[in-house]
Amino acid sequence: MANRMWGGRFASGPDELMEEINASIDFDQRFHRQDIEASRAHCRMLAARGIIAPEDAEKILAGLEQVASEIAEGKFTFSRALEDIHMNVEARLAEIIGDAAGRLHTARSRNDQVATDFRLYVRDTVDHLMEQLAALMRTLAEKAAQHAEVIMPGFTHLQVAQPVTFGHHLLAYVEMFARDRSRLADARKRLNESPLGAAALAGTSFPVDREMTARELGFDQAMRNSIDAVSARDFVLEVLAAAAICATHLSRFAEELVIWSTAQFDFIRLSDRFTTGSSIMPQKRNPDAAELIRAKAGRVIGALVALMVVMKGLPLAYSKDMQEDKEGAFDALDTLSLALEVMRGMVADMEPNEEAMRAAAAQGFSTATDLADWLVRELNMPFRQAHHVTGRLVALAEEKGVDLPDLTLEEMRSVEPRISEDVFSVLGVENSVASRTSFGGTAPDNVRRMAEWWLQELRDI
Ligand code: ARG
Repeated sequence: MANRMWGGRFASGPDELMEEINASIDFDQRFHRQDIEASRAHCRMLAARGIIAPEDAEKILAGLEQVASEIAEGKFTFSRALEDIHMNVEARLAEIIGDAAGRLHTARSRNDQVATDFRLYVRDTVDHLMEQLAALMRTLAEKAAQHAEVIMPGFTHLQVAQPVTFGHHLLAYVEMFARDRSRLADARKRLNESPLGAAALAGTSFPVDREMTARELGFDQAMRNSIDAVSARDFVLEVLAAAAICATHLSRFAEELVIWSTAQFDFIRLSDRFTTGSSIMPQKRNPDAAELIRAKAGRVIGALVALMVVMKGLPLAYSKDMQEDKEGAFDALDTLSLALEVMRGMVADMEPNEEAMRAAAAQGFSTATDLADWLVRELNMPFRQAHHVTGRLVALAEEKGVDLPDLTLEEMRSVEPRISEDVFSVLGVENSVASRTSFGGTAPDNVRRMAEWWLQELRDI
């Protein structure tokens, strides 16, 4: 049997395989709410402009209401023969209200319909992700305020570099997630334009009011060019790019949690809620949630790359290739949402092991820079020379098998005779972090202030 929605010129129906490759209903039913919302707006506009009769519009709106509740209650039977959500909804509407249903598709096409639905869906998703990011930032800022004075080693090349505070390290992620959030906000601004009324690609001869539907659907304006309106998918690409960057940030953080929770580091304890045991080794506490978040970035980045490849070289306007825009995006945005939620839970529960962190911070000559700075400040040495002198002191300490603060004054003076007792005041890790008061530096006072600032910012979101 030929397709009842578009089968006029067809003698037979599609091959079963054709249906399998062609139908999108299995996944695009996900935006049933947006599809019906957009149809409602379109219907009201058609009636307002006298394109359809008010009685028909009433029937259509009532029928759409019923379709919406059937879907919400799980009573709707989605059909592959009807390809996608647009035709599934319209066909059911026809069953409910009869002929009037056929007037709904006046002055529109599935091309502007799908573009509209998808923009609405992505917009809703972005709003949710932004809330989740704010929640994660809040949890991190609270932890940072709580642990503003906890000293840990700061690393470069994963080698102990200089002491920092745990709070400062956490606030670095708050900054990253804040940028992720603003990238999403930015993408949202650009995507919030209405394609509806572009019809198949050329616009329509009916006297539609595109601003009216745009307004009703919460869009800022109608898209200016009908060809662009049905062809553009950069709004998804942009959100996926922001999502991929955010997933990358989560992955870096997850990797740190994995490292920090090893017996070798022992910097943090993750809660039972976000770790698992081993079926053979009773002593194990595996950071599975963190490992999975570390890995999930792959899926999100994959979805971005996949859609870029789908879109590259695609001529204007709509091509069925573009139906491939959905599954990857759904999966990537779901994945990111889950990762954000899990990360927030893990951070809320995580407890630092202050002794282990502090001990590690004191290792590896981590206050060597403080020593060099002292030589510059107190002996007026050029920094390059101070660097060299400090290097020799580090070598001496290494030779003696001690840390820098454990060298005697005589030993220090054997390298640089002008060094005084005062030098020891800068070699402790507490002094080191407390002295980093430059804007953006790790001093506990800075960290406390910055954490409070973030908590205040986040209160207004
Ligand atoms: N299911 C289609 C999609 O997701 C809807 C648009 C179909 N348009 C068409 N001309 N066949 O892209």
